[in-house]
Amino acid sequence: MAATTEDALSDRSDESGSLDLSEQDAGLDVRWRDRIDARLAELLPGPNDGASATCPQLAEAMRYCLLANGKRVRPMLAIRTALHFGGDPERMIDFGCALEMVHCASLMLDDLPCMDDASLRRGQPTCHQAYGEATTTLAAVALLNQAFGVLARDRALEADLRCDLVDRLSTAVGTAGLVSGQSRDLIERAAALDSDAVAEINHQKTGVLFELATAGAGCIVGLDDGDLEALQRYAGHLGQAFQAADDLLDVRKYGADSGKDAGLDRDKAGSVHRIGEDALFARVEQELAAGDTVLPPSRGEASLDAYVRDLFARFL
Ligand code: IPE
Ligand code: IPE
Ligand code: MG
Ligand code: MG
Ligand code: MG
Repeated sequence: MAATTEDALSDRSDESGSLDLSEQDAGLDVRWRDRIDARLAELLPGPNDGASATCPQLAEAMRYCLLANGKRVRPMLAIRTALHFGGDPERMIDFGCALEMVHCASLMLDDLPCMDDASLRRGQPTCHQAYGEATTTLAAVALLNQAFGVLARDRALEADLRCDLVDRLSTAVGTAGLVSGQSRDLIERAAALDSDAVAEINHQKTGVLFELATAGAGCIVGLDDGDLEALQRYAGHLGQAFQAADDLLDVRKYGADSGKDAGLDRDKAGSVHRIGEDALFARVEQELAAGDTVLPPSRGEASLDAYVRDLFARFL
């Protein structure tokens, strides 16, 4: 990390007094993350389930990717949002799993040779290297489809709420969201885009799922419009900060432990190779600081911003 940025992030922690999670908070996150992992495994077709009608290789590829060592950021954002506002995190489990399925599907497609052509993901060979491109494409479609089913069948949530979340997920994934962002990332980012255009692409490909994780969780908690609007804005800044931090990982010295390739963003506008490390570190700081100004204070057991600060402290 560049010295100035390290200092600035460390100053931020001093102001808040909690860059390092308390042991209690860290234990809380481990427990909820374990719950998410266990539920993800339950929600998938079994690997050798003789009674299952699922193609065994398809099921295996889904498990290979989804159960690998991801950070589970989107489900954890939903859980932490509930805790921040005094809501019930139990009601976030299947919602969070649905978000993780969508996210994982997007990574499998993102890694394909026709997209980023990656060889390493979550510390293991990418899905297409292990299972081939056809199975990877179908497993990603299967995971995406499964996500909508998980939400529609979530008995922890009232029927009208489930319907609203399915609608929100469809919008987040859809032609003004994730798929559009990924498409523009591939088609437009080779051009000399300005920083606003890069930010819009990053919002679509990354920010929309962060916004859904937090504002969707806010809907489940039953927050009023003012809090939902604040959460949406907070998550927008967080999404920008997260993608800027991820872009830094494309330089090996930051991404050595990331479990994925470095050097794949060389031809992209706004990448670390084009605009440099300092500009991206500055972006991370600016967006996190802007987010801090809009998030309402915690009125629950654990704050969302403490989780986020810890996430970024570990990131780079
Ligand atoms: C990587 O997301 C893709 C981006 C949106 C930047 P994560 O960094 O959350 O990846 P996993 O889930 O931990 O593998
Ligand atoms: C992809 O961004 C974000 C997605 C929505 C998949 P990247 O291409 O930078 O993600 P990584 O670096 O491969 O995880
Ligand atoms: Mg990509
Ligand atoms: Mg990629
Ligand atoms: Mg990246």
